[in-house]
Amino acid sequence: MTTAPPQVPFNATLRDGRTVHIRLIEAGDNERLIALGAALPENDWLHVENDLRSPEVVARLVNARDAEHWRQIVAVAPDGAIVAYASARLLPGRSSHVADIQLIVDEAWRRCGLGAVMAGEIVAHARQLGAAKVFVDMVEEQTAGQAIFTRLGFTLEGRLINHIRDRQGKLHNLVVLACHVE
Ligand SMILES: CC(C)(COP(=O)(O)OP(=O)(O)OC[C@H]1O[C@@H](n2cnc3c(N)ncnc32)[C@H](O)[C@@H]1OP(=O)(O)O)[C@@H](O)C(=O)NCCC(=O)NCCS
Repeated sequence: MTTAPPQVPFNATLRDGRTVHIRLIEAGDNERLIALGAALPENDWLHVENDLRSPEVVARLVNARDAEHWRQIVAVAPDGAIVAYASARLLPGRSSHVADIQLIVDEAWRRCGLGAVMAGEIVAHARQLGAAKVFVDMVEEQTAGQAIFTRLGFTLEGRLINHIRDRQGKLHNLVVLACHVE
């Protein structure tokens, strides 16, 4: 697992030459996050826990920006649009040493390394929160997400069969990847 500390705020140049500014989520990001959610392909909602299309969900996320157990980062395009979101949150109670990761990249900004940049940064935040274990779950078909986290040192810890049902009623396996911090 990466040992680098969090870097935000910073600018990143992607493989296709485009640049983004990566920073912590801020008050006033609501509309930009809802726009990111509205632009996601319908299938992506299989992979995502927090529905960014919902103003209530987004308000909860933005209101949690100063929470001690939660870090959220966004990538902002030169035109001001939020084009990626990632979060690390410590679980409550008996798993309070474990952080859960979420990651979403706007479809028009995929395949140029942004997901990997966001993943590396949010894992650094999870470590800074004090997590001894970091995990991410996704449907088995999400090979890009698995490639990103495997490269960061995560390994497969679980595979839950037919655990997710899509809008058409089709069942999908859920995989859990995790990394233990020494
Ligand atoms: C998963 C996701 C974040 C990837 O974002 P991204 O910006 O495209 O990722 P990157 O460009 O950094 O790609 C990282 C690696 O993933 C793999 N990858 C990316 N897209 C892929 C695809 N469509 N098919 C197969 N592998 C893919 C590649 O190995 C890639 O590295 P490479 O381009 O150097 O070969 C994005 O597809 C997404 O937001 N999906 C919906 C939400 C989700 O599934 N989140 C994951 C669970 S947390």
